[in-house]
Amino acid sequence: MLSAQNQGGTMETSNPSTETSISPEQGPGEAPRREFLTKVMAVSLGTAVSVGPLVVGSYVALDPLRKKSVGATPFLPVTSLEALPPDGLPHLFRVVSTLTDAWTRYPKIPIGAIYLRRTKENPEKVEAIHPTCPHLGCFVNARGDGTFHCPCHDSDFQTDGSIRNPQSPSPRGLDRLETRIEDGKVLVQFMNFEPGVKEPKPIL
Ligand code: FES
Repeated sequence: MLSAQNQGGTMETSNPSTETSISPEQGPGEAPRREFLTKVMAVSLGTAVSVGPLVVGSYVALDPLRKKSVGATPFLPVTSLEALPPDGLPHLFRVVSTLTDAWTRYPKIPIGAIYLRRTKENPEKVEAIHPTCPHLGCFVNARGDGTFHCPCHDSDFQTDGSIRNPQSPSPRGLDRLETRIEDGKVLVQFMNFEPGVKEPKPIL
């Protein structure tokens, strides 16, 4: 960037005293004009040097938001396996993550929510279902029988997230996420998906 070059001293500039001297070929109006141009250049460079760090600072300050949706998505610990009852019903958990920028670490920032479920028959396996309706992005509610309902336009989903009522406007079932169990903790590869499209498309 321009400012970085200036601060680092890598930009080549002419010596102002040499530039403003009058050669025998120059006319009488040339010296004031040169002087004026030199001053304009000095003001422009000074402005670039002072604005440069602000621009860089803004870019870095916005960096956590940028990083949130770019690159490989890690598995995040969501809860302990013990805290998830093996009753076959979806239970809602908050997803938190730690964001960092060049200067600061922001621990435990809420970044979303997730429905988790496990069964008595297979208690070591955890299913994760995104609570956002793939139609237009409303939050879906879990019913007492484990099925899901979207209050916005009545999309209706099975316990596994597939579409239950074919009249549902949602173009696909609820999005499912990868899970892992590590040291008694449930980890989820959390990400968001584009609404309104037939195939799940992660937002990157
Ligand atoms: S947003 Fe869920 S049915 Fe429209």
